Amino acid sequence: MKARLEPIRFIAIALLALLALAANVQQPATNYDEAKVGSYRLPDPLVLQNGQAVRDAAAWQGRRRQEILELFKTQVYGRSPARAADMRFEVSEMDEHALAGAAIRKQVSVYFNSKKDTPRMDILIYLPAAARRPVPLFLALGFTGNHTIHTDPVIRLKDEWSRDTKTKVAAKESSRGSSSSSWPVEKILARGYGLAAIYYGDIEPDFVGGIDYGVRPLFYQPGQTAPAADQWGAIGAWAWGLSRVMDYLAADRNVDSSRVTVMGHSRLGKTALWAGAQDARFAMVISNDSGEGGAALSRRNFGETIRDLNTRFPHWFCDNYKKYSDAVDRLPVDQHMLLALVAPRPLYIASAQDDQWADPRGEFLSAVAASPVYRLLGKKGIDSDRMPSVNEPIMNTIGYHIRTGKHAVTAYDWDQFLTFADKHLAR
Ligand code: GCU
Repeated sequence: MKARLEPIRFIAIALLALLALAANVQQPATNYDEAKVGSYRLPDPLVLQNGQAVRDAAAWQGRRRQEILELFKTQVYGRSPARAADMRFEVSEMDEHALAGAAIRKQVSVYFNSKKDTPRMDILIYLPAAARRPVPLFLALGFTGNHTIHTDPVIRLKDEWSRDTKTKVAAKESSRGSSSSSWPVEKILARGYGLAAIYYGDIEPDFVGGIDYGVRPLFYQPGQTAPAADQWGAIGAWAWGLSRVMDYLAADRNVDSSRVTVMGHSRLGKTALWAGAQDARFAMVISNDSGEGGAALSRRNFGETIRDLNTRFPHWFCDNYKKYSDAVDRLPVDQHMLLALVAPRPLYIASAQDDQWADPRGEFLSAVAASPVYRLLGKKGIDSDRMPSVNEPIMNTIGYHIRTGKHAVTAYDWDQFLTFADKHLAR
């Protein structure tokens, strides 16, 4: 027998559908018009919450930096726990003559705690074989398994999470090297740097519900079933994973752990910034096309908004961040203050001309607004708010470029990162 919809139910469903439609219509359209950005006032990184001015490095380091960090923890990315005491590393493979003799390759597994069946993170490390002393290194999370960064047949194949089906998909031999255009391994090695890569899905798969397969539940209190409103989101978890790689690198005698650069693209650029802001062991920080919730100013209404982030990726930030979807002016920080947390360490922000969703100008102005903190600490950030032309990088202690082309990590981007590293990490 067919169930018939009672009239009252029918009306209720129709009403709900109408409401949903109205809510959709009300979603503010994305602004791409410079004339419609409007005016906004950024919180001052050099004024304490009690209104007092920060006049010297000691007041910045001792007080204001802590205040800002705390605000990002409680309102934006959420608090992260310390590493588990029983975390373990295991060098599962090593070859001193990899890549036709150009590299030392290591594959290291990180077991987040001593229990079986908990998530495991696999780090792929290449170091220049010619090095006579510990080398500086670039560390980056990738969107795909480590075997996609190079065709090297010895890299362990990694099953990846499908964001559509929310299941793991078996890795294929044919996908080796499929993302190599974003990872110029040989060039990095030839310039004297090492590279460490990790598939971000090893830390937490990137979809709503992915939390169940990642590291966050390992730290629940007894009886806890979800993070509290001020506890870490997925970006917090990925950034935490980067700090765990740093724990390993600090113990690797071939690596100069005082010269590790954390780098990331897009959502992983947001992640690199948050990792570098929290963990001062990262000597240098690079964000590529990180956009909203990364380098770009949130108060500048251009491209993606906080509302967009919270709607499309509700698992990335802490729940408190949702309070600002329609109230960006109430956010006690803006993203220039995240950049300022990296000071006085070298920081490079890269934008792409065709990546308007990420608001290149907002990324640039954010770097400019972080610069007074660099100045206070005796470093040169970016003094002029006139944006440089495309493909004309700035290489002060804050570096910046906008290149031609789209949202991606390109050879051009890496060339600038390497030059910036040569300039700021040379010994
Ligand atoms: C989406 C998202 C961005 C993010 C990007 C990416 O476009 O809206 O915030 O940076 O994905 O990670 O590729």
